[in-house]
Amino acid sequence: MKDLFERIVKDKGPLGKWAKQAEGYYVFPKLEGEISNHMKINGKEVITWSINYYLGLANHPDVRKVDAAAAEDYGMAYPMGARMMSGHTKYHEQLERECAEFVNKESAYLVNFGYQGMVSAIDALVTKNDVIVYDMDSHACIIDGVRLHQGKRFTFVHNNMESFEKNLIRAVRIANETGGGILVISEGVFGMRGEQGKLKEIVALKKKYNFRLLVDDAHGFGTLGKTGAGAGEEQGVQDEIDVYFATFAKSMAGIGAFFGADKDVIQYLQYNMRSQMFAKSLPMAMVKGALKRLDMIRTMPELKDKLWENTNALQKGLKENGFNIGNTNTCVTPVFLEGDIPEAMAMVNDLRENHRIFCSIVVYPVIPKGMILLRLIPTAAHNLDDVDKTIVAFSSIREKLEKGIYKRISASFV
Ligand SMILES: Cc1ncc(COP(=O)(O)O)c(C=O)c1O
Repeated sequence: MKDLFERIVKDKGPLGKWAKQAEGYYVFPKLEGEISNHMKINGKEVITWSINYYLGLANHPDVRKVDAAAAEDYGMAYPMGARMMSGHTKYHEQLERECAEFVNKESAYLVNFGYQGMVSAIDALVTKNDVIVYDMDSHACIIDGVRLHQGKRFTFVHNNMESFEKNLIRAVRIANETGGGILVISEGVFGMRGEQGKLKEIVALKKKYNFRLLVDDAHGFGTLGKTGAGAGEEQGVQDEIDVYFATFAKSMAGIGAFFGADKDVIQYLQYNMRSQMFAKSLPMAMVKGALKRLDMIRTMPELKDKLWENTNALQKGLKENGFNIGNTNTCVTPVFLEGDIPEAMAMVNDLRENHRIFCSIVVYPVIPKGMILLRLIPTAAHNLDDVDKTIVAFSSIREKLEKGIYKRISASFV
């Protein structure tokens, strides 16, 4: 019999195999300094485009003050225990009421992390008789939640309504046999490519196929819709989303997440969602901090306006300079280039060291082999000078990529 770890030592996985060349720089880099549009890496200042705090709240002085006061008043432990047992407070309830109201749902339930919450909510919402239909490009938290499902599941081609309906028809056939129902899952905004989920088209099929809709709006919350209530508000279908989800890890610049739905559904989640029943509740400092952030999102529309001013300038500039930014219709700004992983590393090194730009680099297996995605997340904390410098830098690295310069440099990596 083999030692279980034999494989782990030999095969570190599609990303892990690059650890020796990449660790500490391309992966697990250490950004230093206060969270802002300019931070430091290896002592050098860079323009940061990879932090998802869309509205610039992470380091806002009013937010810092409330965070510090809450930590001072309660410590970082309070309350101890799961919500159900001993970890419940009136402030958790207040935050739930305010989140529900903000996204126009009857009720809400807090979770400690979006990822775990989503996995657990999917697990709680379906039984083995139910059928799940979900977008192929879904975030890992959705994929992993679906993995727990013991019944049938079907994926549809990303944002493709023909494929969606075809899979709904298959789902209806199965659900009729088992006596179960259908859960459809989409994202409000697909965070890699920046495309909104086709929520309007999806809900148009609700009557015909009688399904319930769960939407992960991690990137839409705070950035889309008139009030910032997200992709559902933007597309005029918020009421048709049966279970709405957003994390606090993006626009809210914190930790935690919530689900919004009708009272009965939320009460069901409170009593059946294992990630909350068997885990400590969100610390008070996060709850108080989230109340402050939500208040700012509600009362300071200028934050979202500034975010969009920067987003529009960045996307327009990139397009005018011939970059392929895919079909984004949100703040997430992907720049698609062609090359292999070593080339991508050489290019990002040049971007950081010589152009002083820090952005996320996404490669296979997250996107198809041979593609490089540089993903930019504009925020309200950026300015137009950051945008201009970035477009100049991107034009320069694209030229070198096309001339094969990074290929030559990267030959020494392998
Ligand atoms: C679409 C989506 N869903 C869920 C999550 C997970 O949220 P959290 O960071 O709160 O675990 C993320 C964050 O990366 C996300 O982008």
